[in-house]
Amino acid sequence: MKKIEKGKPQLFISARQIRKRIDELANQINEDYRDRIPIFIGVLNGAFIFLSDLIREIKINCEIDFMKLSSYGDQKITSGQVKMIKELNCDVKGRDVIIVEDIVDTGLSIKFINKLIKKGKPRSVKIATLLYKTGISKLDFKVDYIGFEIDNKFVVGYGLDFAQKYRNLKDVYVL
Ligand code: IMP
Ligand code: MG
Repeated sequence: MKKIEKGKPQLFISARQIRKRIDELANQINEDYRDRIPIFIGVLNGAFIFLSDLIREIKINCEIDFMKLSSYGDQKITSGQVKMIKELNCDVKGRDVIIVEDIVDTGLSIKFINKLIKKGKPRSVKIATLLYKTGISKLDFKVDYIGFEIDNKFVVGYGLDFAQKYRNLKDVYVL
């Protein structure tokens, strides 16, 4: 039987703080892509709430697609293996792509996605993530739009899960 950790999630980033930060990120994106039609690529499942809130603050024309990876299973620690479960449906050739992630932890997933998207010869690729674990990820490229930089904590809520639970919470909590 699977062992689910007990303990009450502690409030970490409130829905109000998230909303405010998303407005700021969206303003920046609206400005940066003024004359473009970017494709937002959401990484399922975690990014679904962040993307849906972000996209509604985007005032320029844009498109949306999703991809799905699996690397964690039901563990808190990464298995170190990234698998593609759902591929993209759109053609990114010559397009401006914005990858939307819930969190960059070790950076393994975003590295995998970034490399894969670039194979499709897009015009540009930028990355937006709600959360970024500072000091954990060793990336050789930059993450352009960061909601919040956080320490090495395991967080849930606002799309982020532990063993598929807690995604529905409005705020971000530390488990
Ligand atoms: P990375 O490949 O280690 O950067 O991890 C990326 C993925 O692991 C994220 O997209 C999340 O789905 C998951 N993940 C990493 N850290 C956390 C966390 O603190 N809470 C919930 N999910 C996490
Ligand atoms: Mg994820």
